[in-house]
This record gives sequence, C-alpha cells and structure tokens, in this order.
Amino acid sequence: MNVNFNRNVNSSNYDAKAIIIYKDYSDDMIPVGLKGQIETLEKRDAFKLTSFGIRKFYLEERPYYICSMGKTKEEATFDDLRFLSHKLFVEVKKERYSTLAVKLEAYGLCKHKSYQIISELATLSQYTFNWFKSDKKDNVFEELTIIDEESDYKSHVEEGMILANAQKSARYLVDEPANIMTPTLLAQKAKEYGDKYGFDVDIFEEDVVKELGMKSYLAVSQGSKKNSLRLIVMRYRGAGEDDPVYGLVGKGLCYDSGGYSLKPTNGMVTMKLDMGGSAAVIGGMQAIAAAKLKVNVTAVVAACQNLIGPDAYYPGDILETMNGKTVFVGNTDAEGRLTLIDAITYIIRKENASSIIDFATLTGAAVAAFGNACAATVSNNDSFYKEYEEAAKNAGEKVWRLPIFPEYKELIKHKEADLTNSAGSPGTITAGMFLGEFVEDKPWVHVDIAPTAFLSKPLGYYDDGATGYGVKSCYEFMKAKQK
Ligand code: BES
Ligand code: ZN
Ligand code: ZN
Repeated sequence: MNVNFNRNVNSSNYDAKAIIIYKDYSDDMIPVGLKGQIETLEKRDAFKLTSFGIRKFYLEERPYYICSMGKTKEEATFDDLRFLSHKLFVEVKKERYSTLAVKLEAYGLCKHKSYQIISELATLSQYTFNWFKSDKKDNVFEELTIIDEESDYKSHVEEGMILANAQKSARYLVDEPANIMTPTLLAQKAKEYGDKYGFDVDIFEEDVVKELGMKSYLAVSQGSKKNSLRLIVMRYRGAGEDDPVYGLVGKGLCYDSGGYSLKPTNGMVTMKLDMGGSAAVIGGMQAIAAAKLKVNVTAVVAACQNLIGPDAYYPGDILETMNGKTVFVGNTDAEGRLTLIDAITYIIRKENASSIIDFATLTGAAVAAFGNACAATVSNNDSFYKEYEEAAKNAGEKVWRLPIFPEYKELIKHKEADLTNSAGSPGTITAGMFLGEFVEDKPWVHVDIAPTAFLSKPLGYYDDGATGYGVKSCYEFMKAKQK
C-alpha cells in the first residue's frame, strides 16, 4: 500500500473519497452537495448519519463515502474505528477502486494511532487467500491518501504498515493448506522472514531434538515420518547482552488429525489452522525486527504433524518429557500441550528466557466458551498478566483471563504418571494448568487462540480465514518492554 498525505481534499482526483464522522457531527462537515440526498434517505428511514455504518453517495459524479462511528467523540474507541475502516476497505476492494482519500472530521481519538489503524487495515485489505483460484482477480486498491492539515504522521503510518505486513505473513502461513505448509516449509518461511526483517533462525531436525531429550514432542511427531518435525528457534537482539530475553512459544501443529483419538471430518477439515500459534510468534518476530524494537526476544516453535500410522503414539502411552516429569496420554488429540511443554522447557533451559508468553490453538472448549470474539488466557503471575492484557488492548486483540481455582489442582494428576494430558472439564483451564507445570518459576501467560486464529465467517475487523491474531499483541508487549 502506498500511503501519502494531502492538505486539501479537492486538490486531486481519487477513485473515491471518504469522511469519518461521529454521532455528534456538525452540519458543516457534510458536503453541501450531499445534504439533499441524505435528507431524502433519512425521511425514508433508509439511512441515519448518527448510526454506525458506511453509506456510499455521489458527489460531482464521484463516489463519496460517509462513515459514521455511531458514537459521540467521547464514547468512540479504537475498536470502533477498526470495525468502521474495515467495512470501508471491504467496500473499496469490492468496487475495485485503486485510490481512496480519507478525512477524519473534527476528530476526538488520538490521530496518530487512528492513522496507524487506518493504514494497517488498508494494507491488510490487500490480502486475499485466492492463489489456488484459476479465475482470481488481482487486488487493485493500492493508494491511500490521508487528508490532513498536518503531516507529521509518517512514523505512525509506517508502524501500521509493519503490523499489517506481519499479519499478512501470519495469515499466509495459516491459510496455506497442510499438504503444502509442512514443518519443513514453515521452518523455511521463518528463515526467509528472519533474513528479510533481521532476526536469526536456527532449524533443528529429529537427531538434535532426540539429543535434547524432547521425548514428549517426539512422541506426537512420530506418526508423521514423511513430513518430519522441525524445531524452529528465532532470536532477535535489539537490547544489550545483559538485558533479559523475553520468550515466545507458538504451537506449531501443521496438521492435527487427532491421531488415534481421531477427529471427525468436520473437526479435522480446518486443522491446518493448528499452527496458528506459530504464525503469531513468527509474525510477531517479523514486526518486532522490522520496527527495530530495543528488546531481546527469542521465539520457539516445535513444529510437527499429528497423524495416525504404524509409528504413531497411542492412547494409554506414558511419556517422558525434557523436564523430567512423566505424562499419561489419555487422548492423542490433546497433542498440542505435549509439544508445548518441551518447547517451554527448551526456551527456559537452553535459551535462558526470563518470561514466557505462549500462543496455541489448544482447546475446542475455548471456542465453546467465547465463540470467535476473544482468546482465553491463563497466567501464574498477576503483574505480568496485567502487562500482557494492556498490550493486547493496545493491539485490539481481545483476551479474557480464566481462573485457576484450588479445586482444579488435582484434575491434571494421574495415578500411573505425574500428569495426564486429558484432564477434562474445564478443558481450557486444565490445558493451561498442564502447561503451567513446566514454566518453573517464570512469569507466564498462556493464550489459547483456538477461538480467534481462524474464522469460518467474517467477524469484527477480520475477513474469514486466517486472522493473524497474536502478532500485534507480541509486538505491543515488546514495545512496552523497550529499554
Ligand atoms: N487443535 C485442537 C483444538 C482446536 C479445536 C483448535 C477447534 C481450534 C478449533 C486440539 O489439539 C484438540 O484437539 N484439543 C482437544 C483436547 C481434548 C482431547 C482434551 C479438544 O479441545 O477437544
Ligand atoms: Zn488435537
Ligand atoms: Zn491441536
């Protein structure tokens, strides 16, 4: 996306123009040429300037969008702006305009962040998962002009584009089907982004993973000999050697059939999404490195597939882990946590991470609780959690923290092994608590993104398909941690 600034809305020709107004707009914000048209519609109850939404008019024979926030200046939030601009860009894309001018009228929200959001969503609107369609239409929207008297918004626009590009990478990684997006390709893509944006990537194969003693991770991957595992370690150093290393861990199940605890087809058909956690941290690293944040971050993905076959692990197995604890496999479909616990031990013991945030499409129970609107979180540390919550809020990525009540503590234990991987209800909490057994003394937040990583229909400011959820929270968290 090419984003530029212009002081005067009348000075150039654009395919379309748009203004964003509040419920408490004043009359002089509405172009004189549109007033009659609007009055007619209002009389017919077909449109209201004060309700949330966009409406297309024609002014001097050119498309002119009025975008109403539906709230007063005091009430409106950045999320309202995200929803509204997304609606606008969906329309612009549909109409195949290549240039658009946008003006914020008598604006109440911080303009810097607003232009960041608008540029981000304009750039994101260029992404479509269409590369398997023979008759695909290329995207034509490529130039956004911001109409403003001042023009010191360049760095915010750039930040918006960094975030959009990182989310595009994450969306691509998830949208690409599992017959293509194997652990090998996922690792290659991480390396490609590392080389392009400036972070180091190490890729380890099975021999090294065996030496490291990551037996729980190995057990999940052993049913997939053809597309074997890849342990992906990404390091970005923007601060000093003695500064802390913040750890990110992403679930990287490039396909989850459920294993011998086989999923029904309906549950399996979208399971390319099960590396959504890895996409969040790889995209997060891209954004962090592209913005050259002054912080040290290491991200780990234990990528593999969960399949059936002669070599696959069985329900009833007891596994050793890198940490030394043993785990009973009550269900081979609760595989994500088995890969994550070894990734967590690895990032603590081998990479010296001082804290951990993990992203994982971990439980169907989180989807049952929240639909697709927010991710479910679990944490062992209130102040660390607050920092994460603030970052997620700034990112516009919703989270809801679940409690760890003492009553739940016994559920994850097993009579023949130290722990069970399938403790049952409350499924999202017991999954989180299971991971919590491996974080040692580190501040930790677990983000279950099963609800938000992938949508079967559009929601909020997302189209259907992969969302890239988590990329912006990683970025905002690290931005706040800068030296
Ligand atoms: N990858 C799934 C979770 C999932 C479900 C993600 C739906 C996105 C949408 C995970 O590996 C899984 O199958 N979890 C089981 C755990 C159970 C067997 C303890 C679940 O949620 O049913
Ligand atoms: Zn599973
Ligand atoms: Zn899974």
